[in-house]
Amino acid sequence: MRLSQTRAVITGAGSGYGAAIAQRFAAQGARVACIDLQLPAAQAVAQQLQAAGCDAMAVQCDVARSDSVQAMTEQIAQAWGGFSVLVNNAGVSQRPARLGKTPEAEIDHLLAVNLKSLHHMAVHALPLMRQCKPACVINIASVTGLRPRPGMTWYNASKAAVISVTQSMAAELAPEGIRVNAIAPTAAHTPMLQAMFGDRLQEGIDRVLATIPLGRLCQGADVAAAALYLASADAEFVTGIVLPVDGGRLVA
Ligand SMILES: NC(=O)c1ccc[n+]([C@@H]2O[C@H](COP(=O)([O-])OP(=O)(O)OC[C@H]3O[C@@H](n4cnc5c(N)ncnc54)[C@H](O)[C@@H]3O)[C@@H](O)[C@H]2O)c1
Repeated sequence: MRLSQTRAVITGAGSGYGAAIAQRFAAQGARVACIDLQLPAAQAVAQQLQAAGCDAMAVQCDVARSDSVQAMTEQIAQAWGGFSVLVNNAGVSQRPARLGKTPEAEIDHLLAVNLKSLHHMAVHALPLMRQCKPACVINIASVTGLRPRPGMTWYNASKAAVISVTQSMAAELAPEGIRVNAIAPTAAHTPMLQAMFGDRLQEGIDRVLATIPLGRLCQGADVAAAALYLASADAEFVTGIVLPVDGGRLVA
């Protein structure tokens, strides 16, 4: 029970990596708030955790909107008073496209969800975390923010920005006793991959697999294990890092 006495807020917890993180944290004794744009998806994860005897709740939120993040944090404040772990996991990808071919509205949405959400969380979530120190923030970036692929420029850039924000936040918040780290996973077979590659999913997966030395895609459990380490007391002296969970993609 490495997270007993821990209250954790996880965005994008209705699917993929976020659901896996919520499940792992809850199994380690954390009280978990599953946040998602899609309330039924977040509720399904929370109900599954409750059925297993864990303390979980679901809250609807659009992390791209300040007013929605404010309403979500007010709901958490009412239920819990504060929390010590925030996982900024909610994210969207772009459709693969050559430079100049991505619609501007798609870029705006991508940056609002993947990047501006961190600002909204800093405004509305940090005050609640300051009441529960030591605290930590974990931002889910991507290995593409460190090693970009062609055709994904704006997604890559959004994740490079997540890494930069992580490092800046870590430097600024360390004196307050709040750690901030990022995880940089490689591709997993989540709904996001389906949305990215559409009807060319298998072709996309094969292309990605060829670049991963350990020979498989990433799984939710891989990212959840990394998040558990960063959230736990084992990482109490770790801040400002970017932890690749990439099967060796960075050294290929
Ligand atoms: N799947 C991959 O290949 C991969 C690789 C590297 C990094 N990542 C990153 O991991 C994170 C999770 O990705 P995933 O693959 O689990 O995706 P996913 O699509 O399976 O899940 C993302 C969840 O975020 C929610 N979401 C989307 N927009 C939201 C918003 N505005 N407000 C609140 N919730 C919102 C969705 O409803 C969904 O439940 C993302 O930040 C993604 O960029 C994914």
